[in-house]
Amino acid sequence: MTDEKNTAKLSINGAEYELPLHSPTAGPDVLDIRKLYGQAGVFTYDPGFTSTASCDSTITYIDGDEGVLLHRGYPIDQLASKSHYLEVCFLLLYGYLPTASELEDFETTITRHTMLHEQMVNFFRGFRRDAHPMAIMVGVVGAMSAFYHDSTDITDQRQREIASHRLIAKMPTIAAWAYKYHIGQPFVYPRNDLDYASNFLRMCFAVPAEDYQVNPILSRAMDRIFTLHADHEQNASTSTVRLASSSGANPFACIAAGIACLWGPAHGGANQACLEMLREIGSVDRIPEFIDRAKDKDDPFRLMGFGHRVYKNFDPRATVMKQSADEVLDLLGVEDNPILQVAKELESAALADPYFSEKKLFPNVDFYSGIILEAMGFPTSMFTPIFALSRTVGWVSQWKEQLADPQLKIGRPRQLYLGETERDYVDIENR
Ligand code: SDX
Repeated sequence: MTDEKNTAKLSINGAEYELPLHSPTAGPDVLDIRKLYGQAGVFTYDPGFTSTASCDSTITYIDGDEGVLLHRGYPIDQLASKSHYLEVCFLLLYGYLPTASELEDFETTITRHTMLHEQMVNFFRGFRRDAHPMAIMVGVVGAMSAFYHDSTDITDQRQREIASHRLIAKMPTIAAWAYKYHIGQPFVYPRNDLDYASNFLRMCFAVPAEDYQVNPILSRAMDRIFTLHADHEQNASTSTVRLASSSGANPFACIAAGIACLWGPAHGGANQACLEMLREIGSVDRIPEFIDRAKDKDDPFRLMGFGHRVYKNFDPRATVMKQSADEVLDLLGVEDNPILQVAKELESAALADPYFSEKKLFPNVDFYSGIILEAMGFPTSMFTPIFALSRTVGWVSQWKEQLADPQLKIGRPRQLYLGETERDYVDIENR
């Protein structure tokens, strides 16, 4: 926590209170209310945590008004164009850009942990073939705590590091195998001579019957998608991981909780929901109808892939993702894909509509990532698993940071109670 520069004065029920105001290295000051209930006997109220800092962190900084996203101080557009996912993983985990030898050691370590315990194959076979890959990922990642006992002691720094490496390394294998199981094809094992993104694409699309050559433009686009989704401050799934970890739960259980939270269509499920929305729209002449529905207060329909809790300007990841989308579409020659045509027309129509600009609703990272994944041949059910794969390093880095925090306490919010006050039980014959 940074030094207190000044304090804030609160007057509650006629009494005056002074609360510390902490100044960050970037972003808004933070009012420290930890002693408020003890001093004034009142709670604060902030459902959805729109104005609440749940922790201090040095990992990722977002400025929603300026469209800024920094990982350990480095802007996302520079990382996306100059770095690659495993280097960004090192940066998020350890706080600095690695030397060439550190990076080589880290990539070798991750590469050597990509295989799953062979007995875990049985978990996949326990699911129905039509199980959503996210259901499989939640189950299999949670089950890792039953196989990797030598990295579940969170009080042991080395075990925490091994668990971090295992989770980052094995998530592509788990996601790819969830996909292969879903489509009834045999599992493809990772290869140590391939880079992280190429390994994942091969495990998804190779079949034993023939060789599979990874297209370097597609693996670069895949790596960029991983990088752009790596971490994002205290979003819903990261906050879920932190809350689960605050009870001392093992790392695999905490990451499984994060995957479960990410699945929701308002969060990581938005890329799948976005493509399903584009399919429902179906053709460009139906776009006005859906724009009107999105603006209709009485219609629960929302434009999936638009809007963001923090970015009230553009999502800097979406800007980079849009460039990748254009590269992949050009390479694959799918400009005439009707779904992708609808996406481009919808983007133009929404950006030109005052409703969306006034409400600061711009395309977010999920809008364009869904388009790229669709063009690369992934079914929409694999979009959120790929988001989960990418975000694992963010969850793990935030989990590591929290465990190293001497102020760590179990997370236990209070409430504004609006229920019945105490009343006596009524026997059934008297009701
Ligand atoms: C991610 O937190 C993160 O960082 C998340 C994430 C990450 O990397 O971890 O960035 C990933 O989750 C991106 C967001 C993906 N979700 C979607 O694309 C789903 C569609 N978007 C919305 O559900 C919504 O925009 C949220 C959930 C993303 C943000 O919602 P907020 O900040 O709680 O805003 P809100 O629901 O209070 O909406 C504000 C207004 C409302 O209108 P009014 O009641 O003020 O009149 O904007 C409207 C909303 O009705 N609105 C939309 C809209 N999103 C908000 N109207 C139409 N379409 C939309 N998409």
